[in-house]
Amino acid sequence: MEQIKFYLSEQEIPRKWYNIQADLPHPVPPYLHPLTGKPVKPDDLLAIFPPQLIEQEMTQERWIDIPEEVLDIYCLWRPTPLMRARRLEKALKTPAKIYFKYEGASPAGSHKPNTAIAQAYYNKLAGKKRITTETGAGQWGSALALAGKFMGIEITVYMVRVSYEQKPYRRLMMETWGATCYSSPSDRTNFGRKILREHPDTLGTLGLAISEAVEDAVNHEDTNYGLGSVLNHVCLHQTIVGEELLLHFKKIGEYPDVVIGCVGGGSNFAGAAFPFIRDKIHGKQIDIIAVEPAACPTLTKGPYAYDYGDMAKTTPIMQMFTLGHTFEPPGIHAGGLRYHGMSPLVSMVKQEGLIEARSYHQNPVFEAAVLFANCEAIIPAPETAHAIRAAIDEAVKAREEGKEKVILFNFSGHGLLDLASYDRYYSKKLEDFEYPDEEVRRALGDLPKVDV
Ligand SMILES: Cc1ncc(COP(=O)(O)O)c(C=O)c1O
Repeated sequence: MEQIKFYLSEQEIPRKWYNIQADLPHPVPPYLHPLTGKPVKPDDLLAIFPPQLIEQEMTQERWIDIPEEVLDIYCLWRPTPLMRARRLEKALKTPAKIYFKYEGASPAGSHKPNTAIAQAYYNKLAGKKRITTETGAGQWGSALALAGKFMGIEITVYMVRVSYEQKPYRRLMMETWGATCYSSPSDRTNFGRKILREHPDTLGTLGLAISEAVEDAVNHEDTNYGLGSVLNHVCLHQTIVGEELLLHFKKIGEYPDVVIGCVGGGSNFAGAAFPFIRDKIHGKQIDIIAVEPAACPTLTKGPYAYDYGDMAKTTPIMQMFTLGHTFEPPGIHAGGLRYHGMSPLVSMVKQEGLIEARSYHQNPVFEAAVLFANCEAIIPAPETAHAIRAAIDEAVKAREEGKEKVILFNFSGHGLLDLASYDRYYSKKLEDFEYPDEEVRRALGDLPKVDV
């Protein structure tokens, strides 16, 4: 029988996170202060982040030690298995081998605890009692709720309204782990109240929920803010995924020709892909593909420009691919991919030509999800299904070209709490929203003028 599950032992778990900043051809453009427009200094960030995370955000060191206490909790589910999708290969009649890294094995169901545990740990060291955050699909909010429980920190989550309504069981997961979850926009913050007054029917956005969480943190001395994606330190923590992948492939004596991940803010893609991009920078031939929704096509249609990370303009201004911080993406079912911007590091590797990006509509994405579930049994999150769609297309291309490629995708999360979205797909109620050209053009008019 051919082996289809590949495990590493707990002793083999990587003990360092990888910082791609050490290997990039150019430094990441500086973050700018949202009020002064001047480069952000570490002290500017102390109002919402603990010192160690600020250091990790800015350091050029290649390797960062993972603290023992974080490793100890990682070991509850890490190393995650590498799986071979052999039945899917057969169904597609492809000569390609399709592998996936199963991050759905974490207790919260996705890659998000890899950074949640680390962030809660550093906030505990800084003596903080509470962390506020946003969540889209609810995967991040539940991951941080779990991390808060382990570290003895209270967690307050602002959940994007459309997801709050679509995914009630995610809220219950957060509550089970002791967190409090509010629908965003909420009446708990000035910015939430303003939006409720001006746009009572809004679906909410990640950019808006971030504004509420930051406002809450800034106004409470004992409280910090935690971001589930985008920032360098979040991508850094996720590299445990890619470092494990390199170990797996070394053990099985193979190396992927193609690495694929879905992108919302970019963190699971960064985690799986950055260690391979390190190899690519040093001469390896490898295609690396970031996949996003056609309804929110940040990397494929946005400009590479300075923009705010949130709607209320409270975060630093970062150079990234963006659709404009006031852009409200259509209410697609991959709530975790409804973000106007993109991680500055992922943006940079795209800008440097180290990766390519593509976008898909949600119906073909769900079609891929169902095919995958029928072959491999695991039901993917709608976000993850974007990566699966691309992996299937790559496998079909390999068949047409008669090539025995090795295709790897990051299985960022399971979809067991996303079944209401599957229901809408089965009853043909999922709309394939066209790229909202007009709306994006309007939002891009709101980009900040910067002087760098
Ligand atoms: C399962 C899953 N995959 C992917 C994402 C996208 O986030 P990121 O691009 O930071 O990995 C999310 C975000 O909520 C998610 O829940």
